Amino acid sequence: MARVLVAVTGGVAAIKAPHLLRLLRAQGHEVRVLATPRALEFITPLSLAVAAGGEVATEEAWFRPDGRALHIELARWAEVVLVAPATADAMAKAALGLADDLLSATLLAGAKRVAWAPAMNEAMWLAPKTQEHARTLEAMGHALFGPAYGPLAAVGEGEGWGRMLEPEELLERLQALLTPKDLKGLKLLVSAGPTREYLDPVRFLSNPSSGRMGYAVAEAARDRGAEVVLVSGPTTLPAPWGVEVVRVESALEMREAILGRYSWAQAVVMAAAVADYRPAEVSREKEPKVAAEKVLRLLPNPDILKELGENKGPRVLVGFAMETGEGLARAKEKLLRKNLDLIVLNWVNREGVGFGSLENEVVLLLRDGRVLELPRMKKRQVADRILDLVKEFWKG
Ligand code: CTP
Repeated sequence: MARVLVAVTGGVAAIKAPHLLRLLRAQGHEVRVLATPRALEFITPLSLAVAAGGEVATEEAWFRPDGRALHIELARWAEVVLVAPATADAMAKAALGLADDLLSATLLAGAKRVAWAPAMNEAMWLAPKTQEHARTLEAMGHALFGPAYGPLAAVGEGEGWGRMLEPEELLERLQALLTPKDLKGLKLLVSAGPTREYLDPVRFLSNPSSGRMGYAVAEAARDRGAEVVLVSGPTTLPAPWGVEVVRVESALEMREAILGRYSWAQAVVMAAAVADYRPAEVSREKEPKVAAEKVLRLLPNPDILKELGENKGPRVLVGFAMETGEGLARAKEKLLRKNLDLIVLNWVNREGVGFGSLENEVVLLLRDGRVLELPRMKKRQVADRILDLVKEFWKG
């Protein structure tokens, strides 16, 4: 958790600042808020102060009656300054090193880390000067969060580049910024979600996998600096930013997508719930229903992970196993049979964990015989524990 100074500049998106402040505090960050005079035309100091749980640093309060200067104090206090929304003007000033207002002076006074959430009209964002300043800020080590493409605020402007990322997305970016890059250089292939095995154009065999565990691994690895390709079966989850997402449906498509990237990968985490069988006959036309009993003939799908294990080389391989009762012995057997470094054992039929839920309770079985039983935790935390071990095998 960090000390975060949220600097609000003058744009319609300033109305989202209280929500952002609340989210940051809910995550456990310590926050303070700075608002420019233009920002205060869009949002009141009171709503910012309430959301931040403390007073707002404003232009009027820059120099205190007791002689203290707020720009120095804030620059020292903040571990991160998040300018949200950030105007083209605020970015230009920082890029040029101007310091004629509280925000620009705070940045020049040595703010340690700075992130910008641009919010402006598309024409202003794409203006060569703004782009030049954005590149200058990046070269200075500042981070740019967005902007996104979407509806623009000013009346009659329609859609375009220049929309501020939503507060939830800004929080994700900030989390990534604050995460140490201990997986930098790792090329990681992750699979997630179910597969669909079609009988005809509208019917398929599948399973209730939500994809959350695999997506959590992909996102955690991205935040830790890895290069990530995510091969995903059909899910309702949004594509994670900063990750190459390859969408597939069937087990055969998933196999092709994974094998095609296997020579690139240094580690593979197979979190997908691959269907073990596919219908032997696939009809091109929708099958009309018949009154009589119907027997479905199934063919076994190739075991993708087993194939990877047969051609492992120096790669780190992680598999998942869903088991009931005698799971430990069965998972151990799979670890050896598929030539894995690590297998993540999930329990089927436990309340509140596994398929579709936000939490998981797993046992990690390692090639070297270690068995690590993890308490119930968020899938994102499970992902980080898995990646700690991937790192160990990758480096070792
Ligand atoms: N897996 C795979 N290809 C398949 C089936 C499974 O790559 N056709 C991967 C899964 O992604 C998972 C691991 O293998 O990481 C374990 O899958 P699981 O279905 O539990 O194991 P199986 O070996 O198929 O054994 P069983 O279904 O008999 O329990």
